[in-house]
Amino acid sequence: MHIEQKTFIAVKPDGVRRGLVGEIISRFERKGYKLIAMKMLDVTREQAAKHYEEHKGKPFYERLIEYIQSGPIVAMVWKGYNVIEGARQLMGVTNPLDAQVGTIRADFALVKEYNVIHGSDSPESAEREIAIYFSPDELCDEYENMAEIVIEKLDE
Ligand code: RTP
Ligand code: MG
Repeated sequence: MHIEQKTFIAVKPDGVRRGLVGEIISRFERKGYKLIAMKMLDVTREQAAKHYEEHKGKPFYERLIEYIQSGPIVAMVWKGYNVIEGARQLMGVTNPLDAQVGTIRADFALVKEYNVIHGSDSPESAEREIAIYFSPDELCDEYENMAEIVIEKLDE
């Protein structure tokens, strides 16, 4: 069981501005994922550069750095069974036009440059990204959510 898996999710500035924070949190909650950290913040240039270092040099890089700093984000850590891949499914692919109807990006975004949500794409990125925005003592993992109880039953 990959119940220990964590992912970094952020409602990007366009999502916050458009009032989609509750909708997005709700989709993750209803799926069964466990919220273990959340904060609203203005991303610094340093955080933005760290977060998107893999895209440095790409044509859209400067615009991406500007975008993620264009207003507050809501940064979150979600935990759950295969949550990294599952979150990417809830989000839909980068370009909302290619995303499946019913996903967050298909339902709420128009263009890939302003696609409302970020989610880690691997365990390594998740660990790296969580550390950019949270210190270990900010993760509240000391409670049990319903999905954990259900998954634990599978092991019995
Ligand atoms: P994210 O990292 O935000 O969860 O998105 P992703 O994995 O689906 O996409 P990624 O390739 O990591 O790109 C990061 C973000 O950069 C913007 N982007 N713009 N203009 C473009 O061609 C382009 N390509 C990517 C998007 O905001 C994308 O989410
Ligand atoms: Mg990415």
